[in-house]
Amino acid sequence: MKNTIVTFKEAKNKNDKLTMLTAYDYSTAKLIDEAGINGILVGDSLGMVCLGYEDTLSVTMEDIIHHTKAVSRGVKNTLVVADMPFMSYQTSTYDAVVNAGRLIKEGRANVVKLEGGIEVCDKIDAIVKASIPVMAHIGLTPQSVNAFGGFKVQGKSEDAARRLIEEAKAVEKAGAFAVVLECVPERLAEIITKEISIPTIGIGAGAKCDGQILVYQDMLGMFNDFTPKFVKKYANLGESMSSAFKKYIDEVKDGIFPEDVHSFKINDEVIEKLY
Ligand code: KIV
Repeated sequence: MKNTIVTFKEAKNKNDKLTMLTAYDYSTAKLIDEAGINGILVGDSLGMVCLGYEDTLSVTMEDIIHHTKAVSRGVKNTLVVADMPFMSYQTSTYDAVVNAGRLIKEGRANVVKLEGGIEVCDKIDAIVKASIPVMAHIGLTPQSVNAFGGFKVQGKSEDAARRLIEEAKAVEKAGAFAVVLECVPERLAEIITKEISIPTIGIGAGAKCDGQILVYQDMLGMFNDFTPKFVKKYANLGESMSSAFKKYIDEVKDGIFPEDVHSFKINDEVIEKLY
């Protein structure tokens, strides 16, 4: 059954945990979809894990549309969430609605995600009024890395914690159907999860959120530039890939690959006529 925003709402009501991963291409999305996940986020994290930038700020609408198209073609049952990149919604509600619309029309995403709390509620409201569901994202919002002065856990002081609770309530009121809590202390994430009726999707926000999301290269051990504390590695594919690449190089150099089974045949008579 196709996951929709109704599935997300019902999961919270039934206390069923929601599962999400990022993906950026067709074949990975297909594998994740077949594993039975609820949602795939085509995150602007693609700037770091696919495009090699040091942050997410340079990611463009064209980048997200390109990768969302690929992911949408790979899934059957998964809700596809497309991230709104830096400066695609901050500039005006008009830009926010036009760009959200492009992610749905051109990328074939089901819903969009954008970062920020009270300051983006007018954008959330306008996008939702255009019949595009919005997933909000508060706590550590990587597009504000320069404003935060680095990638830091958010909501640790009393003021900051109160502010985060207010942000969560505000995005819910503006019409978001779910909210990502990134790098928020576990007990604060638990309070937020109880205080709002939309599902919280945690990343570095502890076990009490309604669901979890990870960047797939992190959880498969494929991206080792740095590993955040909240990542659990479910496989070490980076090591397996490195050793497979080295083996391939050695086998080609040593004439071991390709073997007979990997080669195409031609009748001997045809070859003889060539001499
Ligand atoms: O871009 C992304 O991958 C994200 C997740 C970390 C939630 O926003």
